[in-house]
Amino acid sequence: DWTIENFIDMEVEKIQQKVGDRNVLCALSGGVDSSVVAALIHKAIGDQLTCIFVDHGLLRKNEADDVMKVFADDFHMNIIKVDAKDRFLSKLEGVDDPEQKRKIIGNEFIYVFDDEAAKLKDIDFLAQGTLYTDIIESGTETAQTIKSHHNVGGLPEDMQFQLIEPLNTLFKDEVRELGSQLGIPDHIIWRQPFPGPGLAIRVLGAVTEEKLEIVRESDAILREEIAKAGLERDIWQYFTVLPNIKSVGVMGDARTYDYTIGIRAVTSIDGMTSDWARIPWDVLERVSTRLVNDVQHINRVVYDITSKPPATIEWE
Ligand code: XMP
Repeated sequence: DWTIENFIDMEVEKIQQKVGDRNVLCALSGGVDSSVVAALIHKAIGDQLTCIFVDHGLLRKNEADDVMKVFADDFHMNIIKVDAKDRFLSKLEGVDDPEQKRKIIGNEFIYVFDDEAAKLKDIDFLAQGTLYTDIIESGTETAQTIKSHHNVGGLPEDMQFQLIEPLNTLFKDEVRELGSQLGIPDHIIWRQPFPGPGLAIRVLGAVTEEKLEIVRESDAILREEIAKAGLERDIWQYFTVLPNIKSVGVMGDARTYDYTIGIRAVTSIDGMTSDWARIPWDVLERVSTRLVNDVQHINRVVYDITSKPPATIEWE
């Protein structure tokens, strides 16, 4: 009968048979699906797997280091980390349209991945963390017509690889169980969804390093306080956004004129609809105090209390 242990044994054998002594490439994003697929294939073929991890400079605080620590240091996977921040930021310079930003990031991701893959020799297979739900939902996902969802890991169309998609019969909860069984730490298994374009769509309008820094630091504080309050698994997604607003405040005797930061936190089943999370006042108060005290250039904090629809989860 079907158990995760049996699934692992069977898939490991299937992957070994299929791959033989050849090599597999995988785009590792640090998300649940790509992490689990990488760990499963690594278990089957070890060093015959190479992962490419693209740091587009739009990740959350410590995210790149954490991915490298878990998969390069602890799992001993072959990982090529590409520091592509400058490439992405220069392409994004002055671009303020959300869909345009998504397109640029999606395309640039493919170019960067392509450039790295071209340096490798003798790769026959590309591993992808496609789930069963990705297959049955593709084409019907209405969100796609509202916002184009470029997942990091989208593959270059002209690449001559055979696909390996060992998760394509599984649902998300089974993927989590599989990942746990393979030894992936909980903070990755239970990571909240994070969009491919990353913090670029949480800086409203044109992206600058200064604005990215404000979002990155404030997001880290929010996550820390949510974790301390033990609310991580109760809230589907929680993050901060930086609208293009400056307003007047007062600090000591002096008038300030600085940014407003928005807190977004939602409960949801699948991201298609959502309600705003009822975070306890005292937690919000701690977050607010820390945001204005610890993050430069914030003098006002607002809490987004709209559901989806009519709003979306992200602000762009
Ligand atoms: P919205 O904002 O459309 O978000 O209510 C629904 C879910 O999708 C995520 N999202 C994205 N994921 N690329 C992604 O990979 C994107 O461009 C993108 N836009 C939104 C969002 O974080 C939420 O989980």
